[in-house]
Amino acid sequence: MVMVTYISGSIFNQTQFHYSTLTDNISLKILLFCFVFLFSSVTASYSGNTPIRNQSGLSIKETFNLYVKAVQNSNLEGLFTTVTDSDDFFFLTANGKLIDRKGYYDFHKEWFKERDWEMPVELLKVRQGNEYGYTNAIFHYRSKTPEGKTYLLDSYFTLIFHKENGMWKVVADVCTPIGRYLTDDGDEIRYDWQQVYLFDMIKKRRTVRKFKSNPVPREHILKILDAARYAPTAGNQQPWKFLVIQDKRKLSKLKDEAVQWYIESYKNEKQPNRKELENTGKAIKNKLNDILSAPVYIAVLVDSKAEYPEYVMYDGTLAAGYLMIEARSLGYGTGFFTTFFPEKNMKLFFGIPDRYKLICFTPIGIPEHWPDTPHKKSLEEIVVFESF
Ligand SMILES: Cc1cc2nc3c(=O)[nH]c(=O)nc-3n(C[C@H](O)[C@H](O)[C@H](O)COP(=O)(O)O)c2cc1C
Repeated sequence: MVMVTYISGSIFNQTQFHYSTLTDNISLKILLFCFVFLFSSVTASYSGNTPIRNQSGLSIKETFNLYVKAVQNSNLEGLFTTVTDSDDFFFLTANGKLIDRKGYYDFHKEWFKERDWEMPVELLKVRQGNEYGYTNAIFHYRSKTPEGKTYLLDSYFTLIFHKENGMWKVVADVCTPIGRYLTDDGDEIRYDWQQVYLFDMIKKRRTVRKFKSNPVPREHILKILDAARYAPTAGNQQPWKFLVIQDKRKLSKLKDEAVQWYIESYKNEKQPNRKELENTGKAIKNKLNDILSAPVYIAVLVDSKAEYPEYVMYDGTLAAGYLMIEARSLGYGTGFFTTFFPEKNMKLFFGIPDRYKLICFTPIGIPEHWPDTPHKKSLEEIVVFESF
């Protein structure tokens, strides 16, 4: 008899299995049966975090995710667990044609035979009432024509849901096309507005060193941190902690202390005379006044006791980058501040447990003004194709 044993894998291969031959005994058979039963029932109902069949108790958003996953995986059976059995169902196509449930089924059956297409989906809005609700989303359909051209079709899809026996079911599907493009591979590449928006946000992120006092809503803070947790990490270890500071008194005290921290290290390194020390003290005070003028600060921390400690600094830095882009798209400036906030002092000041390393201290706030883009190296200077 064969039993599968899990071994915790290395960072690059986390799921290695090995097989050991075991003597045929009854208790192991029972164990194996339980294992197979448990495994098959889990995989039958779940794929990732989204179940592959509709079930009662799911929210409209969860049912929508299931619907999308079924479409993306060409899973006709799974898809129709989210669609009502009622004949009242209708699908209004992009051309204004009304299609009934059978037509909807046949349409998907034919479509799912096709390969070479993908359709990322962006959920815009969900409303859930007691009996009815809806989702509004953009479906980005991409495929290749037989001539090898790229076909892009972006459409809004509004799905109307009705609660039937505890399950949300799609009772109507309305498609509104946004735009379609046909490109030759040799053509100049065109980007849609969402792509352009993303490129723009990346380029327009700036280190901001002076802020307005406008508050940042908690929802925005959480949205920004939500983006951070989607950053890649070594072995998916996600070793972060994000310490959020909004307390004005604490920030004011930090300012006074940070001036002292800087002056101490300046004295040790440069042995300045009294005048130099006085001037530097004033300059640092002004600088920290500006840098600490934002309403929110996040200390990006990583756990040095994570599974792959040699990678935690990369993990933390990437998360900081992600949150900065998300903050930019909400109109906030940020900064990767290190110099004025030495790790040792900061840990003591905020009572941060010893196991955490400080990656950076970043403000989040509306900039007093957006700084000009500093010099950025050209692609020619930094890109090498294939070999040096
Ligand atoms: C690892 C790292 C450390 C940094 N430390 C500081 C710092 O201590 N103080 C500061 O004002 N900016 C700091 N910065 C921000 C850089 O000065 C800034 O990113 C750079 O000048 C480019 O400007 P931009 O971010 O607006 O593109 C740091 C950035 C990085 C990536």
